[in-house]
Amino acid sequence: MKVDLSDRIAVITGAGGILASNFSLHMAKSGAKVAVLDIDQASAEATARQVRENGGEAVSIACDVLSRESMQEAERKIVESYGGYNILINAAGGNNVKVSTSSDVYTPEDVKNPEKISFFDLDPILYSRVLNLNLMGTFIPTQVFVKGLMKAENPLIINMSSMTSYTALTRVAAYSNAKAAVNSLTQWLAVHLGPLGIRVNAIAPGFFITKQNKAMMTNPDGTLTPRSQKVIAHTPAGRMGVPDDLIGLLLFLCDTEASGYINGAVIPVDGGFMATPGV
Ligand SMILES: NC(=O)c1ccc[n+]([C@@H]2O[C@H](COP(=O)([O-])OP(=O)(O)OC[C@H]3O[C@@H](n4cnc5c(N)ncnc54)[C@H](O)[C@@H]3O)[C@@H](O)[C@H]2O)c1
Repeated sequence: MKVDLSDRIAVITGAGGILASNFSLHMAKSGAKVAVLDIDQASAEATARQVRENGGEAVSIACDVLSRESMQEAERKIVESYGGYNILINAAGGNNVKVSTSSDVYTPEDVKNPEKISFFDLDPILYSRVLNLNLMGTFIPTQVFVKGLMKAENPLIINMSSMTSYTALTRVAAYSNAKAAVNSLTQWLAVHLGPLGIRVNAIAPGFFITKQNKAMMTNPDGTLTPRSQKVIAHTPAGRMGVPDDLIGLLLFLCDTEASGYINGAVIPVDGGFMATPGV
C-alpha cells in the first residue's frame, strides 16, 4: 500500500517491541519522521537505527508511559528534534504470564498445585500493573501529546486494542479487562477530542507472537503451545498473524484522505478469528 506520509511526524510508544518497531519502519518508508519511544532504551535505539539504515529519519527516546513526567520530558525532546508531531500511536502494552491462570476454567487441582496459577493465585498487584500498563499507558501519553496534536494539521491517535477486548479470552483476565477499557477510552477520546479535529481509532490485532506473549504462545523449544494451536484452529486464515499483516490498516488510518471520516472505531485484523463461533 502506497501512502505519502512525508508531512507526518509520528510518536510511537512501545516501538522497541515487535509490532510497533515494524510500524516505525513502514511509516518511515512512507516518508514519516518517527520518534521511537520505549522503556527499554536498547530496543528503542535498535528500532531507530533500523529505520535510519533503511533511509528513514528517527530519534529514540527511553521513557515510561506510566509516568507523566517521563512522557513530558519525551515530548520536549521530540519538539526539540522535530518542532512538533501530528500522529500518536499508543503501542506500549501487553500481558504478564504471572497473572494469567494456568487453565482455561476453574480446575480444583490447580489450587493445590504450587506449579500452577489458579484463580486464587492472581496477585492483585500484578493484576493492577497489567491494567495500568494497557489503560493508563494509553491515557497518560495521550494527555501529554494532545497539547501538541491540537496545534497540528490532520492530527490522529491510534491505540492498540486486542481480540480479548470484545469477548474476554480464557486465562488473561487482567489483560482482557484492560483492553476492553482501551476500547472505551478510544471511543471516549474520539468524542471528547472531536472539536479539536483529532481522530482517535484503535487497531485490534488477532494473535501475533511477540515479546509480551511468547511464554503463553510458544514452548521453550519454540514449538506452538496447545493454546496457539487452538487459536490457529479457530482462525479461518489458518495461521498466526505476522507484523506486516497490520501495516495496511495502519497506513490507511494515517492517510487522512482515505480514512478522514473514520473516528472512534476499533478495527480487527485477525484473519477472521472473531467471526468464528468455535463450534
Ligand atoms: N502480539 C499480539 O498478539 C497482540 C495482540 C493484540 C494486541 N497487542 C498489543 O500490541 C501492542 C504491542 O505489543 P507487542 O505484541 O508488539 O509486544 P512487545 O512486547 O513486543 O512490545 C511491547 C513494547 O512495550 C514496551 N513497554 C512495556 N512497558 C512500557 C512502559 N511502561 N513504557 C514504555 N514502553 C513500555 C516494551 O519494552 C516492549 O518493547 C501492545 O499494546 C499489545 O497489547 C498485541
